[in-house]
Formats: sequence, structure tokens, C-alpha cells
Amino acid sequence: MDYLESLFKTGVMEMATYSPIEPPDQIARRLGLPESAIIKLDANENPYGVAAEVLKELGRARYLSIYPDPAQKAVREEIAGYAGCAANNIVAGAGADELIDLICRLVLNPGDKVLTFSPTFSYYKHVVELNGGSLVDVPRNEDYSINSTQLSAIDLSGIKIVLLCSPNNPSGTMLEREVLDFFLGKEMLVVVDEAYFEFSRSTFAGLIGSHNNLLVLRTFSKCFGLAGLRVGYGIMPPLLQEAIMKIKPPYSVNMAAEVALRVCLQQKDFFASQVKQMIATRDRVITALSGHEGLEVYPSRSNFILFRLQRASAKALKDALEQKGVLLRYFNTPQLQNHLRVSVGTEEQMDVFLKMFFTLLDAQ
Ligand SMILES: Cc1ncc(COP(=O)(O)O)c(C=O)c1O
Repeated sequence: MDYLESLFKTGVMEMATYSPIEPPDQIARRLGLPESAIIKLDANENPYGVAAEVLKELGRARYLSIYPDPAQKAVREEIAGYAGCAANNIVAGAGADELIDLICRLVLNPGDKVLTFSPTFSYYKHVVELNGGSLVDVPRNEDYSINSTQLSAIDLSGIKIVLLCSPNNPSGTMLEREVLDFFLGKEMLVVVDEAYFEFSRSTFAGLIGSHNNLLVLRTFSKCFGLAGLRVGYGIMPPLLQEAIMKIKPPYSVNMAAEVALRVCLQQKDFFASQVKQMIATRDRVITALSGHEGLEVYPSRSNFILFRLQRASAKALKDALEQKGVLLRYFNTPQLQNHLRVSVGTEEQMDVFLKMFFTLLDAQ
């Protein structure tokens, strides 16, 4: 073994590199297409881009040359106002991803277990294992709900965290209250990832006051179009908040993100109308896909749609679409065989996608 490699933490070199997503300019170059031909429907981002008002305020931002407030005082107050809680219930981070990492860092000793229900957001496995934890992965039902009647059969010994996602990425499935209640009654940290809350409008954050083991995650990456600025937050009981504030890197929410999130929270009507449009577009695409033979389309409360190809090859279609600049997410795991996930783009983008997709599908 190389000497340098022997210094690395056990297992790091065997880990898969996270996320195959490639930036649009690099894809365009690789495919020999103009950047304007790229329709990015693979990461559930806001297809309208950063709001004009946000760009304007970023151009006027005064304090980009100084460090942000490590106590996040103003940011936490603003987010708390939006989330309907107190500032001491909030920690902001460089995306919800950073919050998941901080939760693992706070709780896990080597070998501690974390429970998830697969298929779900793939970063959970990555970050749990990176933090020395071991993932207990229970398969979901065929419709991707969590089997509430089988919960008591799960061996919960040694499990310190359960990671639940609502709506679940990539299936779009909502977490049922019965399932949540089961875990809230156990001695473990219950994390509900509500990254797509603005689309589902359904939240469990109201239960935090009465449950000291519940933590809800949200993000500015999806509805608010700030994925590239990296900002998300957790809503949690004050004791957890105090502990996470102690261990977080001091400046991970940068000044530009601070400025941008403030503007987003002031533009409620603007984003509400974008969300309304995206939901209408999503439902139109679900209807179009469902009407085509050979596709099994799952309902979604989010800004993406999961579907299974019953006969054609999902990989071949994903690759053929990519050659034309339309990017989708392809899955082929034991529970997601021959599946594709398409993010909801603009009306025009989805028209292009549907036309290309059906042409390629019919030709297969
Ligand atoms: C369920 C879920 N949680 C968290 C994230 C990450 O969010 P962020 O960009 O805030 O790190 C994503 C991004 O795809 C997601 O789908």
C-alpha cells in the first residue's frame, strides 16, 4: 500500500465518489453541443434560475469581503420567521447536505447504526459511512411507501438516527404520520428531510415543540433556485441546535448565500407562483407519461417524476436523450430497476423532453 494512502481513514479509498452529476458547460463541451441546448432535468433544481431580484441584490452586496456571522444571528431570525419557529430552533448550513453531515458528526461513534428506507436520497449512505456509521437499509414497499405494519419487526438495537425523507427523493412519496410517530416514540434522533417542502406544502416541523428527538431539514436549493450558492437549514429543539452550533464550521454559509436567502424570503409571492406553475407542469407531464404504454409512472408531491420502463431500456433512453442535451437521472438498483427520474423544468423544456422521449421510446 502507498505510504500516503495508509494515512487515510479506513475505507475512504473504497468509497464510491459521490454524485455523477456533471456541470452543463462541461457536458456541452463533451457532447459538442452549444450550452443553450442543454436541458438539465437531472438534479431537481429550479429551471427558471436565480431570481432577478436576488441577482440585483448580489450585485449591490456590501460585505462580501468580510467573514459572515458565525452565530448566524440575522440569518437564523429570518429563516425562523419563514419556518414559523424561534431563532434558537434553527441552524443554517452549506446546503441541507452539510446539516446531514453535522448530525452524523454530532451523534455517531464508529460502528453506530443509522436507519433508512431504500430507495431514498443516495447521499445518506455516503455521509453515514464517511462518519464511521453503518447504514441499516430497509426496503420500501413496491409503491415506495414505508411498510408501517412491519416497523416493529425491525431490529432497532444500536440505531441512533433514522433518516426519513418527505417527499422522498427519488420516489416523490410522502412520509406517513403513523411511521413518524413510531420512531418519535423511540430513543433515537428522527430526521425528516423536507428538501421539497415548498412543493408538497406538508411539514412535520410543528411537532418539534412536543418532541425533543425530531429534526426537520429544508433547503434553498430547490424551490428558491440557490443550489449553486449552497444554503439549507435544520429546524430542531434548542438542545440539538446548541450542540450543532458548537460543532459546525464557523463560516459555511457564505455572505452571498446570506444575501440571496434574505431576498428569497422577501419574494414569497414570486416563488409561490413559480411553484404553482411547476406543479401544473409536473401534473401535465405525469398525465402525458402515464398515457403512454410501457411506462409505470409514480405519483409525486415534488418537482420530479419517477417512472419505470416496462419494456424499453432506461439506460439506452437516458443515453440517447443525453446525446441531444436532455439530462435525466437513471437508476438501476435492486429496488429501482430500469427507472428514470425527470425533474420538472419549464413548460418549453418539458415539451422538448416529451417529444424527444416519446420519439426515442417508440423507436426502441
Ligand atoms: C432529499 C434531499 N435532501 C437534501 C438534498 C440536498 O440539498 P442541498 O442542496 O441543500 O444540500 C437533496 C438534493 O437533491 C435532496 O434531494
